[in-house]
Amino acid sequence: MRSTALDAVRPIQSVPDTGMSPRAFFEWFHSEAPDVTSGAFARGRTSDSLSSYEVALRAWHGIHAPNTVLDLGCGEGHLSKVLAQQWAETAVISVDFARYPTATHLPLRCCADGGSLPIADDSIDLVVCHLSIHLFDRPNQALQEIARVLRPGGVVSIILPGTQPRNGIMQKYRQKIHQLAHDGHLRSHLVPPPPSLRQLRNALNVAGFRKISDQGFVLNLDGSAEDVWRFVATTYDWPRLDKAGWEELYLFCARLISQSVTHRLRFNLTSIRAQKC
Ligand SMILES: C[S@@+](CC[C@H](N)C(=O)[O-])C[C@H]1O[C@@H](n2cnc3c(N)ncnc32)[C@H](O)[C@@H]1O
Repeated sequence: MRSTALDAVRPIQSVPDTGMSPRAFFEWFHSEAPDVTSGAFARGRTSDSLSSYEVALRAWHGIHAPNTVLDLGCGEGHLSKVLAQQWAETAVISVDFARYPTATHLPLRCCADGGSLPIADDSIDLVVCHLSIHLFDRPNQALQEIARVLRPGGVVSIILPGTQPRNGIMQKYRQKIHQLAHDGHLRSHLVPPPPSLRQLRNALNVAGFRKISDQGFVLNLDGSAEDVWRFVATTYDWPRLDKAGWEELYLFCARLISQSVTHRLRFNLTSIRAQKC
């Protein structure tokens, strides 16, 4: 890979303070790398030419557009924008516990923890969580809150990372992170280990959801060496590593991407849909 590709995106350095709260961590990370999630995912397409944000909206089976939608863990608001384009009359409430200067354009933006939503009972038709709830420190409590704010018959739509394709770049990358963690290079656990699909399905059940279904899908993120590098270099893993671990991951990724002739990048995701009784 040309060194300019590596220079174009510098992975984020170690966290300044390993004792910071999860909220402070997300605020700090996204100030270092604005629009990082949509930058990584919005260009990906499924075999039906949908972005993963559009897949999240397919959970709504109603003939009419929903009156109110909650975008929970909205980040910088890419999904809220997609929602507003899709359903012009719908009120889109965008909630995240972190404050992002890049999210000030969102009309109904509110700073709150997913485990304690300042929203009335039975008031929302659809809740969407795109690549967010698996990062919450209290995902079960957030699911209870989602059940509370949804009206009876309302729907929650969750997009999660899945198990990555065998021998693909992302699987090799994940294996490397596991090895670095095993070797003691992980300095902090600020991003909690994600719950398994089974745990989330159980938690949905306990929270009172029924008709729970899940479906895996693949996002095609093929691109140039720079595109692939940008995707890999902007994960939450980098700042949690110590200096030696960071350097080792950097060299590993540079080698991995430069050896890949096609720059094929497939990312497996899971879409979960559930309905409140
Ligand atoms: C990977 S980003 C996804 C952002 C956005 N949904 C997207 O896909 O573009 C995860 C988001 O979850 C938010 N988050 C993490 N824990 C949270 C919590 N307990 N309550 C509310 N938001 C939380 C983070 O601040 C971050 O913006």
